[in-house]
This record gives sequence, C-alpha cells and structure tokens, in this order.
Amino acid sequence: MTLILLGPPVAGKGTQAQRLIETRHMVQLSTGDMLRAAVKAGTPIGREAKAIMERGELVPDSIVSGLIDEALAATPASTGVIFDGYPRTAAQAEALDSLLEKHGRKLSRVIELDVDEEALIDRIEGRFSCASCGAGYHDRHKKPRVDGVCDMCGGTTFKRRPDDNAATVRTRLQEYRAKTAPILPIYEKRHLVARVDGMAPMEDVETAIAALLPA
Ligand code: AP5
Repeated sequence: MTLILLGPPVAGKGTQAQRLIETRHMVQLSTGDMLRAAVKAGTPIGREAKAIMERGELVPDSIVSGLIDEALAATPASTGVIFDGYPRTAAQAEALDSLLEKHGRKLSRVIELDVDEEALIDRIEGRFSCASCGAGYHDRHKKPRVDGVCDMCGGTTFKRRPDDNAATVRTRLQEYRAKTAPILPIYEKRHLVARVDGMAPMEDVETAIAALLPA
C-alpha cells in the first residue's frame, strides 16, 4: 500500500502515520523529519533548509524530491509507504509520479485531513516530542501517561520545534493554501482522494482512516 497523508500544518499527519506504522507495519516518509535530521546533522541540505523552515516557507522541490528518491530506494517494494508532508507542490506531485514508477509502486490512496485553521494554532502551541525517540505529545490532547516520562522509551527530556509558533504557522498555512491545496484536484481526477475529519479525537481519526484502507 502506498498512501499520501495530506493536510495543513499540525493537522495530525505525523500522529496518524505513527498509528499506521504500529497497526500495519508501514514506513513513514516524512520530508519534514528528513529535513530536520539534515539540519541537526549540519549537512549541506540542512544548512540550506534551516532558515527556510524557520520562516515556515517551502524548501526547494528538487531537494525534497531527492530525499524521497533516496528513501524509496532504501525501502523494500513489499513494504507499505506513507508519504507525510510530501508532495506539497504541483512540481513535487509530478516528481512523485515519476519516482513511484521508477521504484515500481502505485499510489493506493490520498487521505486529506480536514481541519479548522483556528484549532491549528492551539495544536501548534501545545505540541512537544521526546528528545530521545521523537514520540509526539501535546500539552492537552496527548500527555505522557506518567508526567515527564516518555511512554515509548522512558526518556525524560522533551523538545519543541522552532517553527511551532503562531507567527510561523500563519506562513505555513499560507504556503499550504497557495501551493499544496491546489494539488488535490490532480488526485481527485484519479478518484484517489478521501477526506477525513481531522478535528475528531485522534482515535476516531484513526478509525476513519482504517475504514478507507483494505483489511
Ligand atoms: P513538516 O514537518 O511536514 O510540518 P507540517 O506539515 O507543518 O506538519 P507537522 O509535522 O507540523 O504536523 P502534522 O500534521 O504531522 O501534525 P502532528 O501529527 O504532529 O514540515 C516542516 C517544514 O519543513 C515546512 O514548513 C517546510 O519548510 C519543510 N518541508 C517539509 N516537507 C516539505 C516539502 N515536501 N516541500 C517543501 N518543504 C518541506 O499533530 C500536531 C499536534 O496535534 C500534536 O501535538 C498532536 O498530539 C496533536 N493532534 C494530532 N491529532 C489530533 C487530534 N485529532 N485531536 C487533537 N490533537 C491532535
């Protein structure tokens, strides 16, 4: 299965990708995570991407499509893949078509998480993650079971993303509206798009997505 999770910033794409990894043993290909890893490692891509990401703008298409090409090459064809945060422009959607062909895959579904933009500000401001394993949490919607201890790895250090603030999210939303939302019709024409209410509780979003996928 090859899926695209599409939606504005903090719509819950990463959260739902994690659920699919656990339930269906799929692989998450998140260009945001790849870019943050490159920034952390100080690679040439990371150095180019850092300031762009901090402004909430999009990193050049050739860079992200190159990262996806490498990731697909490293993923066995029999393993299901979830694209999280890719494609984000018409050029990336076109590149993805070529990359899927190159790596012998066919797109199964595009799931759009539909959310209320005002609620996104609340989600952005409350998001944090484990500094050791990256597990995602929220101050109100998803706290660790034991305060200050990661449910997944027992880590006790947490971090917040530098681009998770109300000012940057407005740019990220503008980028989404201007460049990413317009790619939906490409997939609608192919009858691949299903919309899911991303404002529902996380478990309900998970159930709605599961109902769209083969058993
Ligand atoms: P990226 O990392 O992709 O960020 P994003 O799209 O802004 O999405 P997020 O990862 O912030 O949110 P999410 O939808 O995964 O939400 P999450 O599950 O964490 O990109 C960052 C930057 O990298 C971009 O701005 C750009 O510069 C660059 N970039 C990346 N890809 C690129 C590309 N293809 N092209 C060009 N540039 C690119 O959930 C958010 C919070 O809400 C969490 O705290 C969670 O616990 C909570 N939550 C989730 N679901 C629910 C729910 N149903 N109810 C209540 N709370 C919920």
